[in-house]
Amino acid sequence: MRSFNSNRIVWNWPLVLLVLLVGAVLGMASTAGAAAPRPLLVEKHKEAGLNCDACHKESPPKAAVTAPVCLGCHGDYAKLAERTQEAKPKNPHESHEGEIECQECHHVHKTSVDYCAKCHDFGFKVP
Ligand code: HEC
Ligand code: HEC
Ligand code: HEC
Ligand code: HEC
Repeated sequence: MRSFNSNRIVWNWPLVLLVLLVGAVLGMASTAGAAAPRPLLVEKHKEAGLNCDACHKESPPKAAVTAPVCLGCHGDYAKLAERTQEAKPKNPHESHEGEIECQECHHVHKTSVDYCAKCHDFGFKVP
């Protein structure tokens, strides 16, 4: 009886340690993945000293802000394309889709999206 029990303990410890180790590694991996959310564009603009009324022309803000307002500060599409001509693997501001609305990709108060991902796998990291 006694030797059977101690035998079991000897065999189970490595398994217990393995389970704990795998759990710790998985736990670290999942917190590392969740720990770096992209700052929202509203924060990026605040850092540049720009408040709500830099984009919203009515107070308090109600409507979404569209490309002409964005381009008022960021220049035209040609200028944007120049700024991102080194972007990998493609230039998101110059394509067969033409001059599309900024909000197809950039959101300000929520996470941005990759419009091109509907058809391509470029993996753009949209700020
Ligand atoms: C860089 C430009 C920009 C700045 C700065 C900005 N907004 Fe917005 N706002 C937008 C855009 C674009 C939308 C459309 C939704 C989106 O993209 O997140 C929007 C939408 C909204 C809406 C409408 C709700 C909706 O989801 O459509 C409200 C209300 C709003 N903003 C309030 C604010 C307030 C308050 C501030 C200041 C703290 C602010 N915004 C700063 C661009 C801006
Ligand atoms: C009043 C001027 C102004 C307006 C309007 C404005 N921006 Fe900006 N934006 C800036 C400045 C200044 C910065 C910080 C310097 C830079 O990156 O150009 C910035 C930064 C950015 C960045 C880069 C953020 C990063 O991660 O570095 C993006 C993307 C952007 N703006 C998109 C938009 C979009 C989309 C709109 C319209 C909804 C908009 N901006 C409206 C002035 C403006
Ligand atoms: C198809 C998606 C898409 C659309 C539409 C789009 N952008 Fe972008 N934008 C991106 C991506 C992706 C980047 C990051 C490129 C990189 O990796 O450097 C970016 C970067 C930027 C930057 C930062 C450039 C820098 O120097 O780092 C600004 C400013 C910007 N976009 C403004 C705009 C404005 C304004 C509009 C609308 C007129 C717009 N974008 C439309 C995808 C888009
Ligand atoms: C509705 C689907 C669709 C969307 C959305 C779309 N594309 Fe395309 N794109 C295609 C098709 C179809 C081709 C031609 C077949 C091919 O070469 O993959 C193509 C070809 C291309 C090419 C040349 C081939 C290559 O892979 O180098 C580039 C560059 C490109 N697209 C960039 C973009 C960019 C940037 C966006 C976002 C602004 C975008 N596309 C959005 C469907 C789309």
